[in-house]
Amino acid sequence: MRVLLAGATGAIGRPLLARLVAEGHDVVGTTRDLARATAIEREGATAAVLDAFDAAAVRDTVLAARPEVVIHQLTALPAAPDPKAMGAAVQQTSRLRRKTVPVFLDAAREAGARRAIVQSIAFVTRPDGRPVHDEDAPLEDDMAAGAVGAMEAAVRAADGLEGVVLRYGFFYGPGTWYARDGAVAELIRRRRYPLIGSAQGRSSWVHVDDAVDATVRALDHGAPGVYNVCDDAPATQAEWLPEAARLLGARPPRHVPAWLARRLAGPVVVHYATTLPGSANGRARAAFSWSPRPWREGFAEVLR
Ligand SMILES: NC(=O)c1ccc[n+]([C@@H]2O[C@H](COP(=O)([O-])OP(=O)(O)OC[C@H]3O[C@@H](n4cnc5c(N)ncnc54)[C@H](OP(=O)(O)O)[C@@H]3O)[C@@H](O)[C@H]2O)c1
Repeated sequence: MRVLLAGATGAIGRPLLARLVAEGHDVVGTTRDLARATAIEREGATAAVLDAFDAAAVRDTVLAARPEVVIHQLTALPAAPDPKAMGAAVQQTSRLRRKTVPVFLDAAREAGARRAIVQSIAFVTRPDGRPVHDEDAPLEDDMAAGAVGAMEAAVRAADGLEGVVLRYGFFYGPGTWYARDGAVAELIRRRRYPLIGSAQGRSSWVHVDDAVDATVRALDHGAPGVYNVCDDAPATQAEWLPEAARLLGARPPRHVPAWLARRLAGPVVVHYATTLPGSANGRARAAFSWSPRPWREGFAEVLR
């Protein structure tokens, strides 16, 4: 199948490109960087160098690729979760979602593509007391969730295209923050990643290889719509963080009160740790015949 992969060099783009090529797909992968373009070509794909905010370049690239499926995996997140850098990163990622997704959708339709698959995130639903949310739960009303909602609406409204939104859970595994050599592992080893407040916020995790697997299956499985791509064992911070520390051979995490964490790291960090609902993956499991590993098993593989 001819596939246009926007963002072939990121945490998911890299392993996704390798898997698509290994399965015999004919892939055009994008990057802004010439050196990374060489790496894309080395994988056996065709590289296209473009900035996604350059609408004319996007259109030309998609038309030239004549893809059957366009996959959008563009984010602008830092290599380490520095609270000081996160505000700007989330803002830029929100811009990518609002501004570039519609351009890729228009170009895909013009190129005669059948389907568009777009990266979204699961951890943006509004807490309402339920521990786990499915895809129909209302979204938060902050800037990040606003951009997610606008992007997903554009995908759902894409006339003449099968629009598929993949709401990934928190990535862990090689090339992510949560790898043995990743930025969070280092913070946990140094006991600089504490339990916060009640530590009852629930994270829904996905090994990046399982996210790749769901994405490849979504090329030709599943009706248009929105899917949570995460495991089905949402974990409170009180569960996953001490387990990650144990696997890394670190001492148990410290504990800080929510008010102090809010001052030091900001409200989003406190929300994830204390009030975030988990996500249900039943829709993706059924539609993609997909079975991700539970986080305890994946963490043991990745962090021990
Ligand atoms: N669901 C999740 O938990 C989730 C989702 C995404 C990322 N993350 C985490 O965030 C960290 C960084 O993510 P990442 O490695 O994927 O890096 P990233 O900096 O977010 O880049 C992702 C992709 O977007 C491309 N890109 C960004 N801005 C672009 C633009 N203006 N025009 C064209 N392409 C653009 C990048 O290409 P070039 O830079 O090569 O141009 C790259 O291929 C990782 O730890 C990752 O796990 C987590």
